[in-house]
Amino acid sequence: MMDSPVNATIKASLTNLQNATQLDALYAPLDGLDLTPGWINRDTPILTHEPRGAFRPNQWRYSDCRIALDAAGRLIGTELAERRNLVMRNPSNPEGIATTRTQVNAYQMILPGEKARSHRHSPHALRVILDSRKAYSVVDGEKTLMETGDVVLTPGWSWHGHGHDGDEPAYWLDGLDVPLTQLLEPMFFEEHPGGFENVDVLTEDSPMRFTWSSIQKRTEIAAADPEGYFGKRVRLEAPTMPTIGIFVERLQAGQKTRRYRAAANHVFVPMLGTGTSHIGGEIYDWARGDTIAAPMWSWIEHEAHTDTILFTMTDEFLMRYSNYYRFEGAK
Ligand SMILES: [Fe+2]
Repeated sequence: MMDSPVNATIKASLTNLQNATQLDALYAPLDGLDLTPGWINRDTPILTHEPRGAFRPNQWRYSDCRIALDAAGRLIGTELAERRNLVMRNPSNPEGIATTRTQVNAYQMILPGEKARSHRHSPHALRVILDSRKAYSVVDGEKTLMETGDVVLTPGWSWHGHGHDGDEPAYWLDGLDVPLTQLLEPMFFEEHPGGFENVDVLTEDSPMRFTWSSIQKRTEIAAADPEGYFGKRVRLEAPTMPTIGIFVERLQAGQKTRRYRAAANHVFVPMLGTGTSHIGGEIYDWARGDTIAAPMWSWIEHEAHTDTILFTMTDEFLMRYSNYYRFEGAK
């Protein structure tokens, strides 16, 4: 029986390896066996003294993105777009859609009377509601309001669709772990067989919704961070979406946080206030609703110009679970 071309390549490679008398003679036959030497110098080394990721810090301004969403609102409806959203693609990663290595964010808008069809997917998702009165989500048969300042969860594989009973366009920010799902490859997606999962009765006190008033109250009574890295900070618990950690912290006008860096990716969204952040050597002046990406191991420092409530989405707990997490404060 004749050898297949693949077997012939392997046989030739093995013969060449057995006859090799110089190191250089190893490389071509190793390639024939789908092996690469671990000892060669690479443009991008495998092991580095500290994180050297490709992602860079970046800012997206809500005021700009609202103009873009309004234009999209004139030109495309929810019958064509499953979601009318604008994805915050980090410019340091032009091939993909990621905002940081593990997270993607998008601004989304829905018009009065519209319905965004129900679907489900393995990536976990959350929404920070930026400007909305009477928009709502239906998550696994529960209808919850999405009003300005709320944080709403849609854990992976829960059915979710969005509707709007109000009079003005509603805007929010989406956060998902899609880039992580793409990397690990357990991606599943399904459209709801009924199109939109219609539910009439509103659910109050859903664990899927953190209201703006509860966020304000909880951050008001939270303890100050004795080391000064954070403001008065609370974690919004989302036990069924362990890849996304959610924090909100309150910074008083004039408050400046102590500089730190962590082995985690962060996305910051001021839900109230104005200020300036220093992220990985870049300086960003921000206002309510802006989005700032702080990739792995970036130095992070915030200064509030006015009273601020700052939302953070992070993969910190994923890094902790993996025993990768590190934290370093400025000396
Ligand atoms: Fe979705």
